[in-house]
Amino acid sequence: MKPKRDAVGQAIWAYSKRGEGFEILERDDGYFGVSGWPGAYFSDYDEWPDYQKRAMDLVKGRVLDIGCGAGRHSLHLQKREFDVVGIDISPLAIKVCKLRG
Ligand SMILES: C[S@@+](CC[C@H](N)C(=O)[O-])C[C@H]1O[C@@H](n2cnc3c(N)ncnc32)[C@H](O)[C@@H]1O
Repeated sequence: MKPKRDAVGQAIWAYSKRGEGFEILERDDGYFGVSGWPGAYFSDYDEWPDYQKRAMDLVKGRVLDIGCGAGRHSLHLQKREFDVVGIDISPLAIKVCKLRG
């Protein structure tokens, strides 16, 4: 994949650099709209919805964070001393993850 086609990665990268941005989502089912704010990908545990917090309580063993984005779940679990590997199809998302540790 050429980085210039990495739309999610561009949004994550831009947010990591400038603290602003938005996403426009176009789905195969015809949905088209402004879907969110990349800042959510950088949010801390305290800001997550309850179902995500509950999911973190269920984690055991080694963790593979598939589609890790900016790495918020990986970072949270790493701080809790889990052995975590994050993967993402977006080269720029992975670049941001590496910068965030
Ligand atoms: C909605 S974002 C969620 C990111 C992160 N899990 C979070 O909750 O903050 C979905 C992520 O999945 C990644 N992704 C999409 N398809 C993927 C695939 N086939 N393999 C790996 N990552 C993928 C995207 O690049 C994007 O970073």
